[in-house]
Amino acid sequence: MYEYFNIVKDFITIPDNSSIVEIASGHGLLYKNVISKSNISKYTGIEPNKLFINKFWDNVGQDNRVTIVNSTYEESRELFDNVDIVICAGLAYHLPYPTHLVEYLANTKVKELYFESFGELDSDVFNFDYKHWGSCSYTDEELNIVGNRQVGSRLTLPIAITTNINIYPHWFKMLGYKLDKYENINDTFSSKSQVCIMKFIKQ
Ligand SMILES: C[S@@+](CC[C@H](N)C(=O)[O-])C[C@H]1O[C@@H](n2cnc3c(N)ncnc32)[C@H](O)[C@@H]1O
Repeated sequence: MYEYFNIVKDFITIPDNSSIVEIASGHGLLYKNVISKSNISKYTGIEPNKLFINKFWDNVGQDNRVTIVNSTYEESRELFDNVDIVICAGLAYHLPYPTHLVEYLANTKVKELYFESFGELDSDVFNFDYKHWGSCSYTDEELNIVGNRQVGSRLTLPIAITTNINIYPHWFKMLGYKLDKYENINDTFSSKSQVCIMKFIKQ
């Protein structure tokens, strides 16, 4: 097994009988090497690519705890109701608007969230003043969003786009999620070099 999965297995804590949703379940490697080792009650993978879903079943085999939904996370809101843990790995850096993913995850109101993406979190990220972050612009520090965005009762972010992983803890914090811990994972898996996994808890 890749060292990557050993690190992630130690990082992710799954209490007995937890229900899990994994966004972008891909080839099933996270399920096979990490999630399936816990005594879960139910696992739902959300994956838009049918070829990846076939690969998932090749890798995982028969497992009656597993359901794979052939869809995007955007189209799967109802799957997040009453779920204990949401896991999302390797997706944010593919998205044109990663802020949307963060808003979406926060609006599920799930209690525990594991989020893995490309990059290396700064050691002082807990103390970083996001208002001085250079790579994104905030339209309104008080979260009173102006312009033509539809906000309604949803939690939203006043940010257009950025890809720097160090901003994610601040985005989640603005929407009521605390960074509990994180781990940088370097050079352990060819397609997974320099990634970071973070755990967020709903406040
Ligand atoms: C780099 S792969 C990561 C797969 C797996 N999570 C991993 O870490 O190895 C990116 C995955 O995101 C999926 N994906 C892309 N857009 C998505 C969306 N809107 N909702 C859910 N999954 C999406 C792709 O189909 C693909 O499986």
